[in-house]
Amino acid sequence: MSVVEERTSDVLARSIPVGGRAIRCRERVGMPQWAPVFRRIVTLPDDLIAPLGGTLVELFSAAARSDQIKAESRDWVSHDLSSRQLCDLELLLNGGFSPLTGFMTSADHAAVCAGMRLADETLWPIPITLDVSEATAEKLFPGGKLALRDAEGVMLAVVHVEDIYRADRHAEAQAVFGTTNTEHPGVAQLLDRTEPVYVGGSVEGLHPVAHYDYKRLRHTPAELRAAFAEFGWTKVVAFQTRNPMHRVHQELTLRASKELGANLLIHPVVGMTKPGDVDHYTRVRCYQALLPRYPQNTAMLSLLPLAMRMGGPREAVWHAIIRKNYGCTHLIVGRDHAGPGSDSHGKAFYGPYDAQDLLSKHEEELGVAMVPFKLMVFVEETDSYLPIDEVPEGKRTLNLSGTDLRDRLVNGKEVPPWFTYPSVADELKRSHPPRHLQGFTLLFTGLSGSGKSTIANVLLAKLLELGGRAVTLLDGDLVRKNLSSELGFSREHRDINIRRIGYVASEITKHGGIAICAPIAPYDSVRKQVRAMVEPLGGFMMVHVATPLEVCERRDRKGLYAKARAGIIKEFTGISDPYEEPEGAEITIDTTQLTAEEAARQIVLYLEREGYVVGEA
Ligand code: PPS
Repeated sequence: MSVVEERTSDVLARSIPVGGRAIRCRERVGMPQWAPVFRRIVTLPDDLIAPLGGTLVELFSAAARSDQIKAESRDWVSHDLSSRQLCDLELLLNGGFSPLTGFMTSADHAAVCAGMRLADETLWPIPITLDVSEATAEKLFPGGKLALRDAEGVMLAVVHVEDIYRADRHAEAQAVFGTTNTEHPGVAQLLDRTEPVYVGGSVEGLHPVAHYDYKRLRHTPAELRAAFAEFGWTKVVAFQTRNPMHRVHQELTLRASKELGANLLIHPVVGMTKPGDVDHYTRVRCYQALLPRYPQNTAMLSLLPLAMRMGGPREAVWHAIIRKNYGCTHLIVGRDHAGPGSDSHGKAFYGPYDAQDLLSKHEEELGVAMVPFKLMVFVEETDSYLPIDEVPEGKRTLNLSGTDLRDRLVNGKEVPPWFTYPSVADELKRSHPPRHLQGFTLLFTGLSGSGKSTIANVLLAKLLELGGRAVTLLDGDLVRKNLSSELGFSREHRDINIRRIGYVASEITKHGGIAICAPIAPYDSVRKQVRAMVEPLGGFMMVHVATPLEVCERRDRKGLYAKARAGIIKEFTGISDPYEEPEGAEITIDTTQLTAEEAARQIVLYLEREGYVVGEA
């Protein structure tokens, strides 16, 4: 594939002819002089579907220009990209988000929120924004530059800053997700984990986002289009997924491609999905195990580095736009597509067919056809899957929910072959060992002198007696000596201390060990952070040692309460610093009437009941 470079005024365009017609660059309309647009215009094969806006817009600069940018960037403000921003940047740079040329300005952001369209009326349902801290924003100005860096500090791109603005994020959540409830993961990301200031402006890329995993399964839109052209695939139906694929998914994708006479692109999201989802390494091994079961040369697997928002209907429209850019003509949309499920009252955030309804309104404009499908069930007698409304009366059907599958894996039970092929089940079992083989963390919290350390020590001995797993005790005093010796007892320092403990515990848990942590951990928010760090990697249980302050003070084993009362020790928990009682602790223990032995026994019994340990110490 040869590359033609051409520079017109401040527009740098490189065309990559892959045969067929060349597509002209869009006219620049209404852009300020200091907002250059750097695009690589990719020439597309004639018979493939056009990207949104007619042009596949890649945003990489030519090698010579990259060197110049690097030389100039010495004094630019830098921003370290979050995981979500890194995914968004990758799709901006590679053309997956065509026709966007950068992060949204306030005009585009407002138009997208209000009417699912960019300011120029192009259909676009999800805000693509670059949020930065107040400290970073203070150093920026329209016309300036912002260097975007990955976790290693490599400068991946530059933003030509056009706009620095504060959006009403509650209004954004309401408009995009239809709710401000932070039980919706997209809303939680927006309201709890988004910096306050947005920076809008065109983006110029220096390096592609680095990936070291499954390189041969990652394609840019241009690469995928080139592959389709080579295979002679002009009708391609995309299957979007964030879950492992089972027999039902194979059946419906086969049906869709057969009925349409189309080829199939299995296009799973491997960027950010819903918290708690199966990790993408396991999923990709499952997809690879399934692929040989499709007729030869009819299906292809490619990984999409998208950060999902779980935005249901709006997200379905977005998925269709992205697949159009990747050269797909059809998108399979099922029940509750990209939905986050239900809130804590059991109320679904979206109706089961809201996504299909919204996408169907925009199919024609997009030129991407939706392939709707209904719930499919397994018909035992015929050993086949059928849409629920096609099942002959009186036939017994079988179904296994995601929760059933998880329970079977956790309890080491068999996954039935009618549900998933044995090769896929084996992959899932490898990554989801039963609980007694998984790592876990016990986070003790309680006042000084409440009995945390003594119980933790007894428990350590009991678990070591049981054997089978490595056990580490991260006691408050020990951690302060070895990991956090420079820290004091301000809120900021206590939070750093607990985050460090959480990080070590999460690594231990990930590697199948047991971490017993026994700090005071007086603040609720950081305890929740630790839970969020550990839970995706194994078990997490909080043990609240709820011995009352009077009892702890009466014991005063270390003489610290007396010193605190005398003002010799400042910021002492329970005396001159707050202790926030935890909500939702798995185990609560009051040692006023209980020995450490008895308390440790209660914890072991709990661990047995939950399946984390087998047999009594
Ligand atoms: S925190 O808040 O979780 O970071 O505290 P932690 O690291 O667990 O505290 C460890 C021990 O430090 C002693 N100590 C104090 N505790 C509370 N407040 C103040 N100001 C303070 N200064 C020293 C105390 O002995 C803690 O250990 P335990 O085992 O809880 O008594």
